[in-house]
Order: sequence, then structure tokens, then C-alpha cells
Amino acid sequence: MTRYVIAIDQGTTSTRAIVFDHAGEIVSRGQLEHRQILPQAGWIEHDPEEIWRNTRRCIAEALAQADITRLDLAAVGITNQRETTMVWDRATGEPVANAIVWQDTRTQPMVDALAADGGVDRFREITGLPLATYFSATKIAWILDNVPGVRERAEAGELAFGTPDTWVVWRLTGGPDGGLHVTDVTNASRTMLMDLDTLDWSEEMLEVFGIPRAMLPEIRSSSEVYGVVGGQSLLRDVPIAGILGDQHAAMFGQVAFEPGESKGTYGTGTFLLVHTGETRVRSEHGLITTLAYRIGDAPAQYALEGSIAVTGALVQWLRDNLGSIRSAEEIEELAASVPDNGGAYFVPAFSGLFAPYWRPDARGAVVGLTQYVTKAHLARAVLEATAFQTKDVVVAGEADAGVPMRALNVDGGMTSNALLMQLLADVLQVDVVRPVVAETTALGAAYAAGLAVGYWDSLDDLRDNWREGRRWSPAMDPAEAARLHRNWLKAVARTLDWVD
Ligand code: G3P
Repeated sequence: MTRYVIAIDQGTTSTRAIVFDHAGEIVSRGQLEHRQILPQAGWIEHDPEEIWRNTRRCIAEALAQADITRLDLAAVGITNQRETTMVWDRATGEPVANAIVWQDTRTQPMVDALAADGGVDRFREITGLPLATYFSATKIAWILDNVPGVRERAEAGELAFGTPDTWVVWRLTGGPDGGLHVTDVTNASRTMLMDLDTLDWSEEMLEVFGIPRAMLPEIRSSSEVYGVVGGQSLLRDVPIAGILGDQHAAMFGQVAFEPGESKGTYGTGTFLLVHTGETRVRSEHGLITTLAYRIGDAPAQYALEGSIAVTGALVQWLRDNLGSIRSAEEIEELAASVPDNGGAYFVPAFSGLFAPYWRPDARGAVVGLTQYVTKAHLARAVLEATAFQTKDVVVAGEADAGVPMRALNVDGGMTSNALLMQLLADVLQVDVVRPVVAETTALGAAYAAGLAVGYWDSLDDLRDNWREGRRWSPAMDPAEAARLHRNWLKAVARTLDWVD
């Protein structure tokens, strides 16, 4: 039997390639950050060519570190930042523009115009989503409307659209020389163009956004053999057998396979997903309805999601824009040097506020400042912002479900910050549990791919791999936790209505 599975995780700030063994443990990894291109306020772009270059380098690094070749690999799984929109020429492989990243808010006027006629929830029944700049549809429309000649070329079938999963698979399978143009149901569910019931592109949504069907990829399941890697790659002939949007992959890696099971992933943003089985549940409290995953021909599984745009990104902002810390890790020590936030609250509404508010007009604010407040208090407020935003989403989820959450399973880069994990347990007043392998996003993609080729036999096989790594229990008085959260809600109220 081949020994390993490799996962490629094309994320918002970096790309990783990670090799896993049968126990679901990390054997080796390559990781590279890419540029965040910020042409003007509210615009965020990535260079698709840079992402592809980094993907190749990460694969090379991961193979070299483990001292293995493609012959040791049973399958490749792909996972990715979702919604981020790329359009390229099918014949030359050249992108027609930079990728428009999920956090980008340039399409707000389009969203406002559509919402003026029926409100932000007018397409919820079909897509599960509120109208927002977040999802791919308005970003594709923006490229069609603003890059000269693109609409005509798209209508003539010369251009391809894809989220980063589609881009990476297209390049891996040969690019212009026969690249596969596919995505999976989880990624498609974030475009705002897929009908959640038929799991196919919705003619109605394509018409609303003026998007030619000819540019869209084929929607496949999350776990099946799509094809094999093409001639130029170090992974030549290895089957590509799993594709999942990163949040769905993290849920898969956390083995949350039963209705009611959930996870929270702490990365650039934070995303809580609750599995709802074969039923698509409509949230009455600001969560979105999305796909959990679909394994081959088995019935699709759905989830409710609370999406928070800015969590880890706020730590990066403190590092890159204010220079208050030299590295992201430094924030823990700085924040731990004071016992509390000194009265300061930081609401990072950089892309408006996502769940449960869906207020694109919000902008970031720091409130409660006095002369007493130091950069250490602000560092603490930055970490607390992640805990409070999680609380807001958990409150919404509990209202939808009618039952309180008992514990939160977490993963992602920010979970290495033990102070943050303790603050989370304190603010939520439940246990916070991190598995041994906190890279569950890549692990989930590896699992989906490994299942499809028989490297793992069943979901039970995967469940057996899950191990508790560390647990944080609430240490704060519940009344104090409630007081802090009330103050937070007052701070949130002050960030609304900023955009004229
Ligand atoms: O919806 C955006 C999400 O998929 C991005 O995740 O981990 O790259 O911040 P991450």
C-alpha cells in the first residue's frame, strides 16, 4: 500500500502542502505566504500566478522534507479559501485580472442595488445566503463589467471562472493542455450561484448576476477521483480525489459527521459550522445555510455556518499596519502582561460585519479608551474580539437550535495561542477542545481524498484517528463574562452606519 496522502491547502494568507500518514498525523509540510494586494480601501486581491508558483514550491518542499516521491502517495486532496474569484483564459491559461478575495467589498453598490428590491434575504431560499459582497457572484459580475472585453470572451466560452480549488486543479491537471474544470458542492455553495436543492447552477441566479454558464466549472462531490495530476508536476499521475472548501474540510478533519456536531476554525477569519445532516436548515438568526460535504453519490450533507471575517487578520493588522508586535506569536505575551482589557474594546469590522449581523456598512472601532489604556490592553482587546465575535455566533446558533452548546471543538493557526483559548472558554462559558492535529483543514482534504481511493475504508476509520490534544475550561465568573459581552455589544452598536 502507498504510504501517504498529500493535501494542498490554498488559504487566504498562505498556501500549504501537508503529507499525512494513515493515523492522520503530519509527516511533512511546505508553507509559503503570498502578497495581499490592496489597491484601494476595501479592495483585496491575490495574484493567481503567485498562488500557483507557491503551490508548486510547497509540494516540492513537503516531498523533500519527508524524502518521498509521488510513488509514495495514494491521493491528493485540495482545500481552499472559499469565494475568492478568479477568471482566466482557457487557451492561454492567463488570468484576466487578479483574484478578488472574499474580504473585498468593492461590489457593495451592486449588493445595495439588488437588496433595494426585496432585501438582503431575497435569494436565501435558493442559495442559503444573504446578499453580500462576501460571495463570488458579485465579484464575477464585477470582472465581467469592468475588465475590457471580458464579457464577450466569457459569452464565447473562452474564459473559465474558478475559486482557488478550481484554479489549482486546473493547473495540476495540465492547464491549457487539457486541464479539468471542476469544483465541489461545498465551494459551489459559496458562489451564490448554486441551487442548494439540485446542487447545480441556478439559471435564475445566473440571470440575476448576468453570468454566462459557459464560464462555470462542473460541480462534483467532495470525495471522488476527478482525474490525475498531469505531466509537468512532481505529483504526476497521482489521483486528485478530494475537494472541499477550507471550513468544510476542517469540519471533515474534526470528524463532525453526525447532525449536531460542530467545529470552530480560527484562521484569518473564524468560521463555526454545525452539521445538520441531510436537512437544509434555514437560520432565523443570521447564520447561513451551506453544504457540509458530499461523499461520492451519497446524499449531500448540510450545515449551518457562522462566518466571522476578521480574527487572525486583526493580529496581522496589529503587526503589519501598526507595528505594535513583531510577530503574530508575540501578541500572547503582550496581552498576558495585563490582567484585563483596561476598559478597551476593539471591533474589527474591516469588511463590514458578517454573521450574525450582515452589516456591510459597519467599520472598525476601538472604544472605551482612557489615558490608562496601553498597547498591552489593546493586544488583549484584539484577542477578546475573537472570543466575543464567537459568542455572537454561538448565541445565534443556540437560538436557531433551541439548545445550548455544550463544548466547542476548535482548530486552526490561532489555537496555538493558549491565552486566546482560555478567553474563549471564559467568554463562552463552555469547554474549548483542541485535537492533537490542529491542522484539521488540510487533514479533512486528505481524508476526503483518501476515502475515495480506499486508503481509508470508512468514516469510522477516520473517527478512530481523532485525539483530544488540550482542553480549556471556563475560569471566569459567569456574571463577569456576561458583563464583558454586554460591553462588547455596545461597542458593536457604535460601528454601524459608518458608510455613507
Ligand atoms: O470564507 C473564507 C474562508 O474560506 C477563508 O478561510 O482560513 O483562509 O481564513 P481562511
